[in-house]
Amino acid sequence: MSFPDLASLHALNPAQQPTYPERALVDSTVAQLRAARPLVFAAECDELTTKLAAVARGEAFLLQGGDCAETFAGVTADNTRNKLRVLLQMAVVLTYAASVPVVKLGRLAGQYAKPRSSDLETRAGVTLPAYRGDAVNGFEFTAESRVPDPARLLEVHRTSAATLSMIRAFISGGYADLRQVHTWNTDFVAESAAGQRYEAMAHEIDRAMAFMEAIGADPDEFHHVDFHISHEALVLEYEHAMSRLDSRTQQHYDLSGHFVWIGERTRQLTGAHVELLSQVRNPIGVKLGPTTTADDAIALAGRLNPDNEAGRLTFITRFGAGRIRDGLPSLVEKVTAAGLQVAWVCDPMHGNTFEASSGYKTRRFDDVIEEVQGFFDVHHELGTWPGGVHVELTGDDVTECVGGGEELLEIDLGNRYESVCDPRLNRVQSLELAFLVAEMLRARSV
Ligand code: PEP
Ligand code: CO
Repeated sequence: MSFPDLASLHALNPAQQPTYPERALVDSTVAQLRAARPLVFAAECDELTTKLAAVARGEAFLLQGGDCAETFAGVTADNTRNKLRVLLQMAVVLTYAASVPVVKLGRLAGQYAKPRSSDLETRAGVTLPAYRGDAVNGFEFTAESRVPDPARLLEVHRTSAATLSMIRAFISGGYADLRQVHTWNTDFVAESAAGQRYEAMAHEIDRAMAFMEAIGADPDEFHHVDFHISHEALVLEYEHAMSRLDSRTQQHYDLSGHFVWIGERTRQLTGAHVELLSQVRNPIGVKLGPTTTADDAIALAGRLNPDNEAGRLTFITRFGAGRIRDGLPSLVEKVTAAGLQVAWVCDPMHGNTFEASSGYKTRRFDDVIEEVQGFFDVHHELGTWPGGVHVELTGDDVTECVGGGEELLEIDLGNRYESVCDPRLNRVQSLELAFLVAEMLRARSV
């Protein structure tokens, strides 16, 4: 089958696309993007597919996390380093508990476009087009800023490249050294009230590390870390322009990220997003909400992974804490009975959002944990592998989700609410989540 052109994708009536005021500027932007350098290499995408195949087989665990929506202004060295740091800290704890490799996948360096449940936003009687992410329009609530501007896609490319190069530098420069990352965790446990609960596990990890050093484990193993990037493939102009023919394999890859996913609102079986991602060779994901039937999931797998290759397709379920125990079992059971090779990952964020009385969009830490626990329990009962978690988080001390060991309250939300879209777990809540998921992984293996 030939690679679809952009016009044929638009002919499929894609959901959640910007309405650009002027076509000529879109065309010239797309032409520039087609000539822009790839952000990742196809062979790196293949490497990630291999790792995700291990997740699908129950031999590895996925940690995917980052902002709901990155912003151009938010791309600073501090912000990127803090996010990388918290993800690495979480990964160490999970690796110890799971006793299998943890695949580290940033939801960053490209996460700039947002699907919205409403096309419009009203504030104080004024109605304007909704903010669709920095890839599309401005967050500022003015008519001018909310007009979709295609030139923003070039900025997505530039800032994603900058983020990725910072990450590569931190990692190759030794920032991710396991001993250092573990020291950050012991500091968290020692210094914060929220962390003290996890002292015993941190202590065990200490002893395991001391043991490895004592037997002379290869210092490179402490130093080396794999990290990949991912985002939702939403704006077709961008994803299509970044999809390139790989000279090694003669197949197309979307080289804007290693892993790309299709959101809950754009996963129509015959829609443009499914069509585009069916034609690229990256490892891909699909978000599945509570209305997904097993037939939907099986049909999606048929289109997106016709060769049933493990690692190619990840199903990211986001049911909500109250619905996962009822809704997930039949989905997993039927997909498994159909013999499909998929990695199952839990997004415990998007089914648990509500509006606080103060008007802030928030999530309860306990609901997030309850959904992950439901996910583990369902997979345990079915004998399938809970392959990982997909989390909206930041390395900073923001106040966007309520609860957790610091007992953040609704009245605290305004102190430091910085997300331009969904509420993220802050640094401490993210580390707590990692320790709690570690306990779930441990309980599974006894
Ligand atoms: C998201 O991941 O930010 C998102 C919008 O998720 P979903 O497609 O699951 O609603
Ligand atoms: Co979100």
